[in-house]
Amino acid sequence: MIDRKAFRSLSSGLYLITSHVGDRKMGCVVNTFLQVASEPPTVTVSLNKENATTAAILETGRYAATVLSQDAPMELIGTFGFHTSADTDKFAACEYSVDSADIPYVTAHGLAHFSVRVTETIDVGTHYLFVGTVEESEVLGTGDPLTYAYYHAVKGGKTPAKAASYNPEGDPENSAAAVPAAADAAAPEAPAAGKRVAWRCMICGYVEEGYPDGLPEDFVCPICGAPRDMFERIEI
Ligand SMILES: Cc1cc2nc3c(=O)[nH]c(=O)nc-3n(C[C@H](O)[C@H](O)[C@H](O)COP(=O)(O)O)c2cc1C
Repeated sequence: MIDRKAFRSLSSGLYLITSHVGDRKMGCVVNTFLQVASEPPTVTVSLNKENATTAAILETGRYAATVLSQDAPMELIGTFGFHTSADTDKFAACEYSVDSADIPYVTAHGLAHFSVRVTETIDVGTHYLFVGTVEESEVLGTGDPLTYAYYHAVKGGKTPAKAASYNPEGDPENSAAAVPAAADAAAPEAPAAGKRVAWRCMICGYVEEGYPDGLPEDFVCPICGAPRDMFERIEI
């Protein structure tokens, strides 16, 4: 038997994996970047075959990884984790640099950066597992690394369908039941005196105002594309 709950006890960090195709910079959030050998310094990352970043790595044979710090804003994770580089320039609103092989990497909210040359690509079903040698590494900042557990428990983050850790049977934190006071027009509640109602995207943190009785059915987050039931009611 497979008990999906068992997978939730695996711990990991959150990283930005970046590469490029020609002039187009690509990148996405992962929780699957890992050091697997010390000599030569070897790392792996598991990327969904449909990610634009995957296509870039297949083409260049290289990628960079940025270790995110705990203070990384949900907007950054929303941009890199819930949009595709196929139609979004994810680097437009964040600081980045370029390594000696011309691979872009995000420096904003990063604790460290690694530049990797892929040595082996393993087909693991929905994902490719890229095995690679670290050719450059650098410390970018100080602080605590952002863990997947912290992302879920403290930042209220969600798991998108293309993440390697996505549970096709439904994750508790992604279910409607876990959404407190989701945008329900049936029972509008008056805000406290001097306050007004707003709706906060629990994925990227975007706040929408102007709908005191609930967001429209077809509302989607303008930042990360999350649907209406991923918004929680707040008072500001
Ligand atoms: C917390 C989190 C963890 C994720 N982990 C992975 C992962 O390990 N592998 C993966 O392929 N996608 C993962 N994703 C999903 C990708 O970041 C997402 O599909 C992204 O939009 C792909 O962008 P791209 O098409 O520009 O490559 C994760 C997303 C989030 C928010």
